[in-house]
Amino acid sequence: MSHYLDNNATTPLHPAVKEAITQSLDYYGNPGSMHQQGRVAKQKLDDAREEIAGFLGATPEQLTFTSCASESNNTMLKSVSSQDFGFTPHIITTGIEHPSVFNTAQYLQKRGIDVTFLPVTNDGIIEIASLQKALRKETVLVSIMHANNEIGTIQPIEEAGELCSQRGVFFHSDMVQSPGKIPFSLNKMPVDAASFSAHKMYALKGIGALYLKKSRFKNFSIIPLIHGGHQEAGLRAGTENSLGIIAWAAACRVMKDEIDTEIAHVKSLRDFFETKVTEEINDIVINGGNAPRKPCTSNISFKYIEGESILLRLDMNDIAVSTGSACSTGSLDPSHVIMALHDNPETAHGSIRFSFGRENSMEDVERTIAALKETVTFLRGISPLSP
Ligand SMILES: Cc1ncc(COP(=O)(O)O)c(C=O)c1O
Repeated sequence: MSHYLDNNATTPLHPAVKEAITQSLDYYGNPGSMHQQGRVAKQKLDDAREEIAGFLGATPEQLTFTSCASESNNTMLKSVSSQDFGFTPHIITTGIEHPSVFNTAQYLQKRGIDVTFLPVTNDGIIEIASLQKALRKETVLVSIMHANNEIGTIQPIEEAGELCSQRGVFFHSDMVQSPGKIPFSLNKMPVDAASFSAHKMYALKGIGALYLKKSRFKNFSIIPLIHGGHQEAGLRAGTENSLGIIAWAAACRVMKDEIDTEIAHVKSLRDFFETKVTEEINDIVINGGNAPRKPCTSNISFKYIEGESILLRLDMNDIAVSTGSACSTGSLDPSHVIMALHDNPETAHGSIRFSFGRENSMEDVERTIAALKETVTFLRGISPLSP
C-alpha cells in the first residue's frame, strides 16, 4: 500500500470528479460552435464557470480559464513587459514565490524591468513595512502569493492589498494553494488579480484560471499570452478545455460541503505528525512552524543530511514526499524558499515537505514516522556532516 504525502504537488481525483468526467465525455462540441453540439458544450462550460466562480467567491465574468496556474502567473507578469508605460516599470514580488512567478520575474529583470524581491522573516512571512519601503512611483505591479506551496505559510494579503490599493498599484496574488485547503473567499480579498489551478483540489491537471476584478487601472492592461480566437473575452485564445473545467466544477461542488471536515482531518494528521517527529528525531527545524500556515503542510529540515536521500529512501518504503530543491531537474541549488528563510544551504538541502490530503489516514502518518526515524538514523550514521 502506498502512502501519498505530496498533496501540495498534486492531488488524486475525487470520486465525484471521476464520475463527472465519465458523464461528460460525450460533450465533445466546441463551445465556440453555433450548432447543437457546440451549444450544449457552451452551456456546460457556462454552468461550470458559475460553479467554480461561486466556490472562489468571484463572478463568472471575472474568471479567465487558462491551461494552468503557471500560464496565469506568466500572463500576469509578462503583461508588464508587453506595454509601454513611458518609463521603466517596477515590479515587487517575494523571495518565496512559486517558480512560475519567481523565475518569470527573474526573466523580466534580465529584459530590463526593475524587480524587487521582498525578503521574508525566519518564519517565511513578508513584512508590510518592507513592502511599504519598496513601493515607488514607477511600481506598476505587486505580486505576492497567498499560501506558500513549500512551507504553507500564509502571507498578510489583506494588508498588502490594502496598501497597494491606497497607493494605486495593481495587486496580484498566486492563490493556487488556498481554495479547498483553508477557509477562502475572493470577495473578502483586496486583490485585483489572482491565479488558480484545478489539480491542487482533486480535479484534473492542465486547467487553471486568472481572476481579474474589473480594473480600476486605466494605465495597466492584461495582455494575452496566447493570441488567436476570441475565447475567454479575448484574454486567452484557444478552445476551452471544457472537460477539465467541468471536472473542476465537480470538485468545487463537493469541496463546498467537505472543506470543514477536510481541514480538521489534515490538521489533526499534521499536528500529530509534527509532535511525534519532534519527540523522536532531534536536530530538526520545522520551517514556517511559528507562522500562520496551511493545516495540510509540514516542511521539516533534518540537519546533517540531504533531502533527496531522505526522499528516495522513503520512496523505497512506498511513501511519497517532496523536496523543494531542484536536484531532480539537474541543478544542485537548494530550495530558494528555504534559503529565503534561513540563508543556510545545509538547512535548505535537508528539507522535506509532507503534505496531507483527504485520502490520508493515521496509518499513513504512523508508517511515515517509523520510516523517517529509521531513514534519518541511517543517513546520519553515514553522513560526514554528523557531529
Ligand atoms: C503556489 C503555486 N503556484 C503555481 C503553481 C503552478 O500550477 P500549475 O501546475 O497549474 O501550473 C503551483 C503548482 O505547484 C503552486 O503550488
